Amino acid sequence: MKVLVINCSPVRTGATAEIVKIVSDELSGKYNVKTACIDDYEFSFCKGCRSCHTTAECIQHDDVDILMNEFEEADVIIAVSPSYWADVPGQFKAFIDRCTPWCNTHEPHKTLTSGKKGYAIALRTGPNIAECNRIIGTIEHFYGHLEVECCGSLGLTSIEYKNDLKPRKQEIKDFCKTV
Ligand SMILES: Cc1cc2nc3c(=O)[nH]c(=O)nc-3n(C[C@H](O)[C@H](O)[C@H](O)COP(=O)(O)O)c2cc1C
Repeated sequence: MKVLVINCSPVRTGATAEIVKIVSDELSGKYNVKTACIDDYEFSFCKGCRSCHTTAECIQHDDVDILMNEFEEADVIIAVSPSYWADVPGQFKAFIDRCTPWCNTHEPHKTLTSGKKGYAIALRTGPNIAECNRIIGTIEHFYGHLEVECCGSLGLTSIEYKNDLKPRKQEIKDFCKTV
């Protein structure tokens, strides 16, 4: 089984990247794991033109196609997102917007192969879990419209830098057992 673990943060060495590494190391024994960082991809914002509502194609062709190909290759997608102003980072939100050709609310639309499972991990510096749940909600809303089954989530509060994750490593490993 193929697993794609995505760092939804543009920071390649931060706490989100560390969680991606822990998850990837933990699942590599069982699955074929690939990691990606949203900042590895260059793409433009959605123009809101709605051409894709009638053509199922975007008028722009850039790295969104490459990242969506990684989604297509995977059986399991795990999105790991920090809170940036109480939501996913803008780079990841821009990617979600550009996935409108795959959104199941209009016909025609592109489709991913069915049967994919999706997981969400959210982290933040503040102490309140509600903000993590909001981010998980954003990711699960995205999965829902791609018809990726939402199978589990984890929220981690009081995390700013990767060192803050040291006492939380077991919690992340336990979450991996559910994947
Ligand atoms: C631009 C920006 C906005 C942030 N906004 C919030 C926020 O609204 N709430 C919060 O708890 N943490 C916020 N944080 C802190 C991050 O969620 C936290 O440091 C996380 O561990 C960052 O992971 P990263 O360095 O891997 O991107 C923000 C960080 C940045 C850079």
